[in-house]
Amino acid sequence: MVQDVPDQGPERASARRPLSLGARWRRWRNARVASPRFQSWASANPLTRRTARADGERLFDLVAGFVHSQVLFALVELDLLAELSAAPRPAADLARRHRIDPQRMEALLRAGTALGLLERAWDGYQTARLGAAAMGVPGLADMIRHHSVFYRDMADPLALLRDEADTELSHFWPYVFGGGMPSDVAARYSGLMAESQGLVAEETLRAVEFRGIRRLMDVGGGTGAFLTALGRAVPEPDLVLFDLPEVAPGARARFDAAGLSGRVTIVPGSFRTDALPQGADAISLVRVLYDHADETVAALLATVREALPEGGRLIVSEPMTGAARPERAGDVYFAFYCMAMRTGRARSPGEIARLMRAAGFESVTHRPTARPFVTSVVEGRKPVRHEA
Ligand SMILES: C[S@@+](CC[C@H](N)C(=O)[O-])C[C@H]1O[C@@H](n2cnc3c(N)ncnc32)[C@H](O)[C@@H]1O
Repeated sequence: MVQDVPDQGPERASARRPLSLGARWRRWRNARVASPRFQSWASANPLTRRTARADGERLFDLVAGFVHSQVLFALVELDLLAELSAAPRPAADLARRHRIDPQRMEALLRAGTALGLLERAWDGYQTARLGAAAMGVPGLADMIRHHSVFYRDMADPLALLRDEADTELSHFWPYVFGGGMPSDVAARYSGLMAESQGLVAEETLRAVEFRGIRRLMDVGGGTGAFLTALGRAVPEPDLVLFDLPEVAPGARARFDAAGLSGRVTIVPGSFRTDALPQGADAISLVRVLYDHADETVAALLATVREALPEGGRLIVSEPMTGAARPERAGDVYFAFYCMAMRTGRARSPGEIARLMRAAGFESVTHRPTARPFVTSVVEGRKPVRHEA
């Protein structure tokens, strides 16, 4: 389903509306809910105790969320999800092999079981369905490992919010500040992005019609994981990858391995300082805009418009916020991740559409995806000038 993105962002529209009757009622109700006496009464009353219990459990999950994440981190770091999907094992065996006290290993396995990642099997444990699903998400294990960096930045959320911290993530993604970088740094972040590209490409390819494009240029395309997926799925378009020179060698190797080298041109350069090559009738920006501040995005969109012919398409694919309805992936995880990078910002489809319109794009539409926590898509066109 294609949705027109309204000119007026829903988040702004709702800010101007007077407080509704429903919102006022909820405020009155919440003042009662906040009282410990009410909580005690509600948890015993047959009419309210289910809601009170559900609220209590949700609250406890929020309070304990960082412990849950670290239990998952430990399971991934020890590779236990994979090991226990091959065969069940008793805790004592695992304790010996991983040099962890048996009681503590048992505690980790019980924690993994409580979180639904593992299950009891005979006298030991095996991977449960949720744990198996985690293994089936390409790049998830690398993402979880990489969270040791993000986790340290989240340790002082107020410093993060006040922009007082020299965050580790801003050093992990050095290009956000626009300078040069050693090639091993580019290889490190490119590897992580490429690993997690599988699902992004899958969702983007489902949401967007790529047939009919003659030449597609992926700007900020990293080591070409998106173009590789596109090239395999859609045989027609010629492909162009534009990214920083440090990233190009990784892209070349990937296209060679995929047998796509004959179809792809790699153009090294910086969209901050270089014009983009002409000739593509569609340009994609996959997980690029959220790395950058509004001014950089505005300049990039103008550069993209310049490179496109009249009627040319711009496809933006990245995780987005929920606008009037904040949601967990975009408004919690990606919003804080971008904050820790210190330059970018997760945006709603409406905000991206406004930036695109301001850069001179029209027919801007939001193409919802099945997994918005992976990516969402906004597409627009460079207008066709009609002679008077
Ligand atoms: C978050 S990564 C996304 C990579 C890829 N599109 C993906 O989704 O896997 C952002 C990419 O933008 C590239 N990039 C950052 N600044 C750039 C610039 N000034 N010019 C060209 N590419 C740039 C980075 O090198 C990196 O490959």
